[in-house]
Amino acid sequence: MTLTPDITKAAIILKEGGLVAFPTETVYGLGADARNEEAMRRIFAAKGRPFDHPLIVHIAHKKHITDWASDVSPAAMKLAEAFWPGPLTMIFKKKPGVLDVVTGGQDTIGLRIPRHPVAQALLQAFWGGIAAPSANRFTHISPTTANAVLDELGDKVDMVLDGGACEIGLESTIIDMTKDHPVILRPGMISAQEIAAVLGTPVALSRQDTPVRAPGMHHVHYAPMTRTTLVDTNEIPNMLNSLDPNDLPIVFVIYNDSASPQIDHVNWVKMPSTPAGYAHDLYRTLRVLDNEHFKRIVIERVPEGAEWEAIRDRLTKACGGDEGVAPQPMLSMPSAT
Ligand code: TXA
Ligand code: MG
Repeated sequence: MTLTPDITKAAIILKEGGLVAFPTETVYGLGADARNEEAMRRIFAAKGRPFDHPLIVHIAHKKHITDWASDVSPAAMKLAEAFWPGPLTMIFKKKPGVLDVVTGGQDTIGLRIPRHPVAQALLQAFWGGIAAPSANRFTHISPTTANAVLDELGDKVDMVLDGGACEIGLESTIIDMTKDHPVILRPGMISAQEIAAVLGTPVALSRQDTPVRAPGMHHVHYAPMTRTTLVDTNEIPNMLNSLDPNDLPIVFVIYNDSASPQIDHVNWVKMPSTPAGYAHDLYRTLRVLDNEHFKRIVIERVPEGAEWEAIRDRLTKACGGDEGVAPQPMLSMPSAT
């Protein structure tokens, strides 16, 4: 454990009910003491997040699971062994006494042990549960750098711990372990296949219309402000042939070797062609493009494979849920509510 002065100070701020943004391997979190009701309310106020959206509690060690959760199955313990610390959040039945404000009034609780060294050091120093949603305003893109946190919430946090750019860049996989059969509520870079391989049973992915107040199921989530559309690779040449002057300047975000002809007011961003590389760069890229005054962002659809699932999910949400249909009339993304 590295107990730097910053970590000690951050742990004290948490103990006193303050807000500390800190890096995890997925995205930056906006942390506060999960046993302190007032501190929990400050998280919702800072984000502009509705109270019925529950928070994930981050813990230092597997032995703390039972401080928060009851009915922890052998299957869940297998997943904890395999993937913790790491980018997996498990949903359990909550233990009596867990604050309602943390769980959005539900009888379940999300737990995760992150593996980023700064998150680990903070949890070790604090030695309690740190509730932490992504450190962005409600419906905005999650921050993957300390600067992005400052842009989002700079005036609302008591301290930001800088741990560099997040290794993974997309939020954790969330799996509901409260049912007989585990269900993935939010895909992440730990795939359903990897989880199924550990459990020895198939793992379902929940559909978007599942009636649970589940992760990112708000229609505009993870969204840039700029009008953003997903298109198939073979639609790009047509778009270039019939560019609407109102859409210029425009930027195309591509990942493969599609042609990227030089045309006035048409810009190109080439993403990495591996899922890990793409995930790592996605939010940072969208954040930069959103600040560049483009009239429109067009994103090339990524492949169908399971390893691209989480990226497809976030791209669909960045475009207001339009993936899988022909390009729609552009959607304007409202700002945070
Ligand atoms: O990677 C991550 O998970 C990041 C880092 C900071 O750990 N955290 C994160 O938190 O993405 P947040 O609050 O932005 O997204 C967590 C999602 C929310 O959409 C929430 O609805 C869902 O997890 N969630 C939390 N507890 C839940 C529960 N008991 N049942 C169903 N969904 C839950
Ligand atoms: Mg979030």
